[in-house]
Amino acid sequence: MWSSRLAFILAATGSAVGLGNIWRFPYLASDNGGGAFVLVYLACIAVLGLPILLSEILIGRHGRQSPVNSLASTAEESGASRVWGGAGLNGILAGVLILSFYSVVGGWTLRYAWLYLAQLFGADPISDPAASFNGMLASAGTLTFWHLLFMLLTVGVVALGVEKGLERSVKFLMPALFVLLLVLVGYGATTGHLGEAAAFLFKPDWSKVSASVVASAMGQAFFTLSLAMGSIITYGAYLPNGISIPRVGVTVAAADTTVALLAGLAIFPIVIAFGIDPAGGGPGLIFNSLPLAFNEMPFGTVYGLLFFVLLAFAAWTSSISLLEPGTAWLVEQGIMSRRAASFSLAGLCWMLGLLSVFGFNHLADVRPFGQDIMTFIGLISNDLMLPFGGLLIALFTGWVVKESILREQLAGLPQWLFTLWRWIMRIVAPLLVLMVLVNALA
Ligand code: PFF
Ligand code: NA
Repeated sequence: MWSSRLAFILAATGSAVGLGNIWRFPYLASDNGGGAFVLVYLACIAVLGLPILLSEILIGRHGRQSPVNSLASTAEESGASRVWGGAGLNGILAGVLILSFYSVVGGWTLRYAWLYLAQLFGADPISDPAASFNGMLASAGTLTFWHLLFMLLTVGVVALGVEKGLERSVKFLMPALFVLLLVLVGYGATTGHLGEAAAFLFKPDWSKVSASVVASAMGQAFFTLSLAMGSIITYGAYLPNGISIPRVGVTVAAADTTVALLAGLAIFPIVIAFGIDPAGGGPGLIFNSLPLAFNEMPFGTVYGLLFFVLLAFAAWTSSISLLEPGTAWLVEQGIMSRRAASFSLAGLCWMLGLLSVFGFNHLADVRPFGQDIMTFIGLISNDLMLPFGGLLIALFTGWVVKESILREQLAGLPQWLFTLWRWIMRIVAPLLVLMVLVNALA
């Protein structure tokens, strides 16, 4: 019943669209000066993200194994060392760090869904969103509970290997999330602040661009497309031959980018209309602003419930794809059963996540490089490890993989685009990533 192209697009879109689009993108735009950040981010998607996305699908489809072994066997076939599989290990490690905090934030969305459900049954509305949000962060017990629940939902699917069933629901729930965002943009328009929001998001103030702004934009481009983590290589391994890799890649990248921009256009009019400063919103941005709108909108409680349920679902399909590559690798090594591997990894991520949890309360004084612990772990994984992994993938496809393999996998791509893509892998992407990493580290 399902065309294979659609199945791949659903799986990859389920991985890509998540908290990165709706929670992280708007607050990064807010913290990094708006338009300039957004334009650098869009450029990173076009110049680095999409081309590397194609590379990862290609490696997966050629290797047809877990990310580590797809890289290693493709290297071997091209006359290079299997050591290239190490790029997959960097991704698995980054995945552990990312899942640790991703699950904490996934827990926030579950709790807000719960709050709106309770509201539907008569509980008090969230009258002071900032106070509610800060109250939640102050309670280590609350955060730990929802973090545990989210992680259990994730590991449950991976342990039982029932991802396929879930991917089917992506077909209905992603469009629903899309429509809901459109409704919120419409609501934003009625506040009369849509233009102002668009100006904040798209009118660049280049004086706001610094090395760290560019690094954040680049890290976000990798994070949002689920790159350098093995997820896309894993899904590429199931892509039938004969389906155009550029075509599915462009579809996934376009869907992901559209959702992020829509989220921005949905959230900033509300932020502005309710007198919140659009700059410096931080990780609480959507939780501090959206409830204000849900309080005012007709059927706002229902919208609030739907919004957080769909966001939790989008986060769930992404977190599954974060846990899957590491699990697959452990199983392939023959060390553990699928169940043992997924529970061990999830347990490790959950415990690491407690650091992020306590960073908001018991360990609030611990501020590595002036950041709370969650932000710090995000910087290490998203802004350093993902671009580093992307750099390895680019060098690998640009210089190591046999040209005949590339040609076979990208058959149908016009010659000039093939050449352009190859030079991006060889020179442009490695140089750009290196420059940004070196500057950011300095
Ligand atoms: N792309 C997801 C998001 O934007 O929320 C996050 C993510 C999922 C990153 C899977 C990496 C990954 F392997
Ligand atoms: Na994303």
